[in-house]
Amino acid sequence: MRDMPNSADLLEWYDRHTRKMPWRVGPADRNAGIVPDPYRVWLSEIMLQQTTVAAVRDYFIAFTTRWPNVTALANAKDADVMGAWAGLGYYARARNLLKCARVLRDDHGGQFPDTVEGLLTLPGIGPYTAAAIAAIAFDRPATVVDGNVERVMSRLYEVTTPLPAAKPELTDLADQLTPTRRPGDYAQAVMDLGATICTPKNPACGICPWRTPCIARANGTAADLPRKTPKKPKPVRFGTAYIARRVDGAILLETRPPEGLLGGMLGWPGSAWAEGATPDHAAPIRAEWKTVPGEARHTFTHFHLRLTVKTALVPLDRPAQRGTFVEKDEFSPSNLPTVMRKAYDLATKG
Ligand code: ADE
Repeated sequence: MRDMPNSADLLEWYDRHTRKMPWRVGPADRNAGIVPDPYRVWLSEIMLQQTTVAAVRDYFIAFTTRWPNVTALANAKDADVMGAWAGLGYYARARNLLKCARVLRDDHGGQFPDTVEGLLTLPGIGPYTAAAIAAIAFDRPATVVDGNVERVMSRLYEVTTPLPAAKPELTDLADQLTPTRRPGDYAQAVMDLGATICTPKNPACGICPWRTPCIARANGTAADLPRKTPKKPKPVRFGTAYIARRVDGAILLETRPPEGLLGGMLGWPGSAWAEGATPDHAAPIRAEWKTVPGEARHTFTHFHLRLTVKTALVPLDRPAQRGTFVEKDEFSPSNLPTVMRKAYDLATKG
């Protein structure tokens, strides 16, 4: 009979191959008496949604240096947090991060609930994040299912149903494997296995701690799993962004409305974005606008965007119909979301 996959084999592998991450308390740290900080676990898990470990690392260090605990974050100004998040994408995460920090400060004495049910009541915390925090911060046997875990389960049990339809089945399988001993390490171990060995292409099955029980490895199908239902192609939207510089170097920016795409982020005043052609609109300030050759392109979850960028130099006393002039010393392109930074780069670097 085939060996059954066993959490102890994976934990033994994890003890030897724990990846170092600034938020991680590994088995060796734990043996030295270090306990995970729920604030750091929460922050890292929110940042890691839809984003790679490599992209998150510096942001995590910057956030925890500037705001070392949840109360400090709750007391921060919205614009500072949104600016510090700029470039990480999926900005609703940052808005909910602040909401959650403030609920914790105001209603929970600055402490995180230590159960999945308690965590699920907080803004921005869905089933994945609640399970991850419960397991990693509080060592509760919660089942954590991200893309890595789905891939590992689909191969281990050779699930051929395509994603996303396969999700309940894969979650069930992951649930059955979750141990009551060291569930926090186990959750991180499955994710690490998916990130380093059970990779989407060319999985390193020969060195996998679960190579013996893995059905897809036995049948040579690992690299073809998980199957995925093809996604619809993304439509293309068009728009125009206006970059006005005043003769003293101040620059015209606006904070986008709090809800919706890039909500609460800084950006260039401009047109709405629409399929087919740029919608009719007015410039944010009267000026001799020049169109920058080329376009700034950016892909969002549901569409591709092509932005025409216009620039102008305006005199000191000219009033703007939209936006606010930000003094030269107070403007930092790194506080812009990526699409707005691309428009700026196009305008300034040609
Ligand atoms: N991806 C998301 N959360 C993670 C974690 N805690 N460890 C490894 N990879 C992850």
